[in-house]
Amino acid sequence: MNMRMSAGGFTERSLEIIRDLKHLEGPMLPILHAIQDEFGYVPEDVKPLIASELNLSRAEVHGVVSFYHDFRAAPAGRHVLKLCRAEACQAMGSDQVADRARQLLGIDFHQTTLDGAVTLEPVFCLGLCACAPAAMLDGEVHGRVDEHSLAEMISEARA
Ligand code: FES
Repeated sequence: MNMRMSAGGFTERSLEIIRDLKHLEGPMLPILHAIQDEFGYVPEDVKPLIASELNLSRAEVHGVVSFYHDFRAAPAGRHVLKLCRAEACQAMGSDQVADRARQLLGIDFHQTTLDGAVTLEPVFCLGLCACAPAAMLDGEVHGRVDEHSLAEMISEARA
């Protein structure tokens, strides 16, 4: 990820990525993933570039970006906490865990704490349904999350 790129370099790099992948069948998602891998998020300015390279409208690109929960509209904080919002986890109390996370962090999903420490994101099944409710902190999965283990994860992330 290169966050220190000049505006020109930013556009240039985005175009390189788009042109490398636009010949794939169904190129939109691979392009969006590659852009997010490169910059850490999908910048607003990249959407018109994708639209024009793929002969789509900006609204179509925007629709895809907002449909998938994977794409960020802004750079993430130093740590990313993902809470599973899918059915098996909901049945095991993930709503309470999510409420507690919002409360402890003072933010909602898709937001980052003011100190830049934690971004809270929803995820839809981490493959850990047998140990629901599940969470992932910086790529590491945690099962049977309760208020106590959640608070520990959050204080670790903010340390
Ligand atoms: S539903 Fe949450 S891990 Fe599968």
